Amino acid sequence: MLTKLKLFDSPIYMGYDCLSQLQKIIKKLNPSRVFIILDRNSKRFCLNQLITVCTQIKQPYYFELKEGENEKSLENCQKLFNYLIKKNADRKSLIINLGGGVICDFGGFASTVFKRGVKFINIPTTLMAQIDASIGGKVGVNHNVYKNQIGSFNLPHSVFINYEFIKTISFNNLNASFSEVLKYGLIYNQKLWQELDSSLLTCSDLSHLIEKCVRIKLDVVKKDYYDNDIRRILNFGHTISHAIESTYLQNNLKISHGDALAVGLICETYLSYVEFGFSSQKLNHVVDKISSFFNFKKIETLDHKLIMKFIKNDKKSSSGSNNFTLIKDIGTAVINYNVSNAKIADALSYFKKTCQV
Ligand SMILES: NC(=O)c1ccc[n+]([C@@H]2O[C@H](COP(=O)([O-])OP(=O)(O)OC[C@H]3O[C@@H](n4cnc5c(N)ncnc54)[C@H](O)[C@@H]3O)[C@@H](O)[C@H]2O)c1
Repeated sequence: MLTKLKLFDSPIYMGYDCLSQLQKIIKKLNPSRVFIILDRNSKRFCLNQLITVCTQIKQPYYFELKEGENEKSLENCQKLFNYLIKKNADRKSLIINLGGGVICDFGGFASTVFKRGVKFINIPTTLMAQIDASIGGKVGVNHNVYKNQIGSFNLPHSVFINYEFIKTISFNNLNASFSEVLKYGLIYNQKLWQELDSSLLTCSDLSHLIEKCVRIKLDVVKKDYYDNDIRRILNFGHTISHAIESTYLQNNLKISHGDALAVGLICETYLSYVEFGFSSQKLNHVVDKISSFFNFKKIETLDHKLIMKFIKNDKKSSSGSNNFTLIKDIGTAVINYNVSNAKIADALSYFKKTCQV
């Protein structure tokens, strides 16, 4: 079954057979050239199906990145721009981002600024990208070790969520992506939260769950596309997780966005408990559920001092305050909440004590 949703003028096609719609769209767009941006895994596992189904993609050009967060860089944008110019890309060219959140963020940003904008289509191939990164128009790259510092808002021409593609993602990546699913439940939808159970990690068909998450994201983004207000609820867990990711980038270590977010969710739930005084049973319930999805022992190191430094530099923070999104209760988020340095340090210690034993 094909589901079609819309974010303003940008359609989102979801289903095992959604690529047949892409075929029609490419025919209609009639691009001068098609460039496919991908990484080695999306190339290995998804490219064949894409070009077999979409015969309208004639003699595409490929730009391949290695895998991982380090690839989301301005240096790689420059390499891509050189390649596009060499291959005579013009404003009627079409860029297709085939990959996870890294490819969608990177390719979306490059498409936004190249020749002041060429059309791009997202074909997300990880759970994280299908439920979140490919949708909503936030595109960008990292600057040195600072996450998503260079970016813009620009919607893809369209998005194609093929559930088949996530069947090959590793258990680690699937598991990390669940942090965003858990986040949706915590900030927006108590019912979704109740449905979440770690048995989903072995479920062979996540289509219903993906659709629920996409609908939540659309609902939020439609109300506040430019992230001045309610969209900030989507940042729950991210103030701490982005700081953790930066410390890892700085120390040349690896941590996935999803794993860092799981730590951020626990720390920021603890902060919510401290600030809003919900019961310790509720705190334990949230922490237990998140912990049932993750193996926190694999988190190598948390450098509290460095994390604090990066929180200060977070793009959400302003004039010396630490800007957090917290939850008053499961399903109810509060934005623009200032939390003291001492409480943040407590939250990190709480995580260590509770989850890393
Ligand atoms: N723009 C947004 O709104 C938004 C939202 C959430 C996350 N993000 C960004 O998304 C990124 C994280 O996304 P991610 O978890 O998809 O990371 P990712 O793109 O690095 O993909 C994770 C891993 O899965 C591999 N992979 C991709 N498709 C595969 C497939 N079909 N089969 C097997 N392996 C496959 C990749 O090669 C990579 O090794 C972060 O940079 C984060 O900042 C952006």
